[in-house]
Amino acid sequence: MFLDDQEQKKLRAETERRRTFAIISHPDAGKTTLTEKLLLHGGAIHLAGTVKARGQARHVTSDWMELERQRGISITSSVLQFDWDGFRLNLLDTPGHQDFSEDTYRTLAAADAAVMLIDSAKGVEAQTKKLFAVCRRRGIPIFTFVNKLDRPGRDPIDLLHEVEEVLGIRTVAMTWPFGQGQDFAGVATLFDKPGPDARRRPLEQIIATLPPIPPGGVSDPDKLKAKLAEDVELLEHAGDPFDHGRILRGELSPAFFGSAWNEKGVDEFLAAFVGLAPAPGPRHTTTGEAVDPLAPAFSGFVFKIQANMDPAHRDRLAFLRVCSGRFERGMTVRNVRDEKDMRLSMPHQLFGKERQVIEEAYPGDVIGLFDTGALRIGDTLSEEPTVEFAELPRFSPEIFARLRSKDALKRKQLEKGLLQLSQEGAIQVFALRDGGLRDPILGAVGALQLEVLQYRLSHEYGAEIALDRLPYTVARWIQGTGFDPSSFEQEVDALCVVDRDQNPLALFKSEWNLSYAQGRHPQWTFSPTAMTKSR
Ligand code: G4P
Repeated sequence: MFLDDQEQKKLRAETERRRTFAIISHPDAGKTTLTEKLLLHGGAIHLAGTVKARGQARHVTSDWMELERQRGISITSSVLQFDWDGFRLNLLDTPGHQDFSEDTYRTLAAADAAVMLIDSAKGVEAQTKKLFAVCRRRGIPIFTFVNKLDRPGRDPIDLLHEVEEVLGIRTVAMTWPFGQGQDFAGVATLFDKPGPDARRRPLEQIIATLPPIPPGGVSDPDKLKAKLAEDVELLEHAGDPFDHGRILRGELSPAFFGSAWNEKGVDEFLAAFVGLAPAPGPRHTTTGEAVDPLAPAFSGFVFKIQANMDPAHRDRLAFLRVCSGRFERGMTVRNVRDEKDMRLSMPHQLFGKERQVIEEAYPGDVIGLFDTGALRIGDTLSEEPTVEFAELPRFSPEIFARLRSKDALKRKQLEKGLLQLSQEGAIQVFALRDGGLRDPILGAVGALQLEVLQYRLSHEYGAEIALDRLPYTVARWIQGTGFDPSSFEQEVDALCVVDRDQNPLALFKSEWNLSYAQGRHPQWTFSPTAMTKSR
């Protein structure tokens, strides 16, 4: 735990050059394409299409992910690490399909910044809104990247206006498209030295350094220049001024334009991103204190557990975000939850779907640990046993089903499976107040979670189940004195259940039902998340 001067210096340098982030977007906005281009520009891969190709190759070795192959979608998220201009970037990939799950949300808890990708023809879409709300709650910086400028799309000023109106965050344009659709030539860089002291460039300089119009362009270049000059002037007078502090607090979103497909605007984005996004910072603990990433003792927390990636081993892989100190292969750490020591002998770096044993890691990095059932989501692993990171919130499910066992003799396997899968965070399990766990109610944020659960219970635990969908769409944990579930159920149209820690929650059919209940009981708190310990 003691670091000499040189090791301490190295810890500082390695921490300061890390940027850990996630991309949030609606399906089809171009996340896979942009990810590929970022990796390509970062020299991590040399062939575009590798991300998709890797995905397909992995199907050969996957097991329950057979479901993934059948549906042709990506259920699990992975971590991609690449270097750019001396910085080390950790991109926490989240599932791209609209049936996203709690994993998507929890991955955001491990990121220090988010890049919000928007299709220039479609603007802000439903899933982007949801994911944005999670980032906003965490107060992390949110970068906007408007994609597909090579296609006919909406006016850039309009799009930024929509981001501000719909999402309620101000924007500051860092780059601006020169031409659009067939005329798209690339982007103009509006600031010098993107970083805390970024300076707006004079218009003449911006115009003088514009990229050349592509051969297929149809508009008069002078007209395009005039439009750009007009837009830039408008931004200067009507837009928000650059303010790095507001960016770091998540109040102001630096906005970029480009085309992931033809790689325009990607370098300009990366150059500004590494300058503006924060290095790993202090992380809050349960006692309210924060752990400095430069503290010599290693610490980190588990934000995701993924089961059975390798059918030959039936192992689970726990994803751990390093928060402080230097991680070294073979080190012994304590799991603060159960006070057990564990030796981390086979830590993995996760590059997409591939694993590679690593020797060391620094704050901001994510490592994969083989787990035989000892770890749970939210666990703190540390050399300093008094450190315990603040819990990861459980997110409010939006889809509910009652589980029925099809085979009474397999009840034990079913219970074991449900326990393990809920610890993994694959599903939330609730009990009716009087029925115990005989016919539990399952909650998920995406329908796919339920399908995966059914598949895994059958293939991994031999338990066949049926799921009856319930008509509820909103869950709220209720806190306050005098809450009586049976009279509450009679008074409002809701179903009262308890979570695995016996916290009461109510399921409502609609937001309207919820507001009605809230209106009648202003004395109680209706919380969309439960801070549950995974003890
Ligand atoms: P996702 O991960 O966000 O779901 O999106 P993905 O990258 O798979 O992109 C969705 C579609 O949009 C793909 O087309 C992709 O090629 C296209 N796309 C992504 N970025 C750009 C861009 O900057 N410009 C243009 N013109 N298209 C873009 P597809 O036809 O569905 O697939 P494919 O046949 O191209 O692989």
